[in-house]
Amino acid sequence: MYILGIETSCDETAAAVVKDGTILLSNVVASSVDLHKAYGGVVPEIAARSHIESIMPVINEALVEASQNSEFRIQNSEKKLNSQFPIPNSDDPWSSIDAIGVTYGPGLGGSLLIGVMTARTLAIAKKKPLYAVNHVEAHPYAAFLGDKQLQFPALSLIVSGGHTMLVLFKSHFNYEILGQTGDDAIGEAFDKVAKILGLPYPGGPSVGKCAKAGDKFAVNLPKAKLNSAYDFSFSGLKTAVLRASQAMVGKDYTLPSTQLPGLLNAQQKANIAASFQRVALETVVDALVTAEKQYSPASVIVAGGVAASPELRRMLAEKIITPLFIPEFSLCTDNAAMIASNAYFQASLNRPPADPYKLSIDPNLSM
Ligand code: KG4
Ligand code: ZN
Repeated sequence: MYILGIETSCDETAAAVVKDGTILLSNVVASSVDLHKAYGGVVPEIAARSHIESIMPVINEALVEASQNSEFRIQNSEKKLNSQFPIPNSDDPWSSIDAIGVTYGPGLGGSLLIGVMTARTLAIAKKKPLYAVNHVEAHPYAAFLGDKQLQFPALSLIVSGGHTMLVLFKSHFNYEILGQTGDDAIGEAFDKVAKILGLPYPGGPSVGKCAKAGDKFAVNLPKAKLNSAYDFSFSGLKTAVLRASQAMVGKDYTLPSTQLPGLLNAQQKANIAASFQRVALETVVDALVTAEKQYSPASVIVAGGVAASPELRRMLAEKIITPLFIPEFSLCTDNAAMIASNAYFQASLNRPPADPYKLSIDPNLSM
């Protein structure tokens, strides 16, 4: 079964073709990140406009790239032979596509609309079933891509720019949320700390790079103490970074954060970045280790943009004893392959497809 995935929930316009939920045939991502850099974060209107420009070229590229795969082409011609009606374009990759999966939430309203309206139109025009995919639930599905044998129960840590969650998947679509953040997401904290230090957006990679030259124990930063071992809070940590930075340059809380990058020297920035990164990553790794002990899962999945952090991967390799599944770097950040994989498992479990005439976006969709 070949699924075309479409993803436009934030600033990435993405399309991918995935076979049987696990084999990646194409994965195209056009990011508008460079357009947002000047603002230090994603500007919704700019993201939506850039999705409009990119969506059809990205989908076409994903289909053309998938056509390089001989099996996809063979299936394509087999379908034509079996077809009752002549298909006008003999090389049309659409004849191999069995269904479309699209992100309908959560995310930016204007961005989600472009993906959902495109997917609905294509589903109607090409007569394909359409599956509605929850973006956050799809992140761990990036771990199914590849030749790995992922077993349930799967304990999943989802760490992205919008979410920080611990989820226990008992089987596909049957899961329990063990805990989540009550304020900022961990990726958002990386992005905000990058802004304080004058490092480029997105903050995850730039803070990680800056941290390499720093001492991770140089700055004393607090870990949030919450009632549940599986809930998170990162807004206090971000404020602690701001206060420590102001104190480091001999100023108090009245110093505007915009002046900090000019006053901190390179070593101070590296020490702050390294100390923040240690505390932020230890927070999620500690919770994951506690849950691993309590639930004894068969697999541990770590997914979402922050899972691309080499330091997080190093810590996980050291601490997690269960078979660990982390998507390859390009599949940690937003992509459509995880959307296609999630849609495949919906289809294979006979979950009902969406009505292509009715599917609407849900920017606040929860898991
Ligand atoms: O999953 P994602 O692409 O989008 C959301 O669904 O939010 O995650 C984006 C987040 C950003 O906050 C970014 O700073 C963070 O992932 N990120 C990283 C790395 N690459 C991206 N954080 C730490 N280390 C990285 N290498
Ligand atoms: Zn995401």
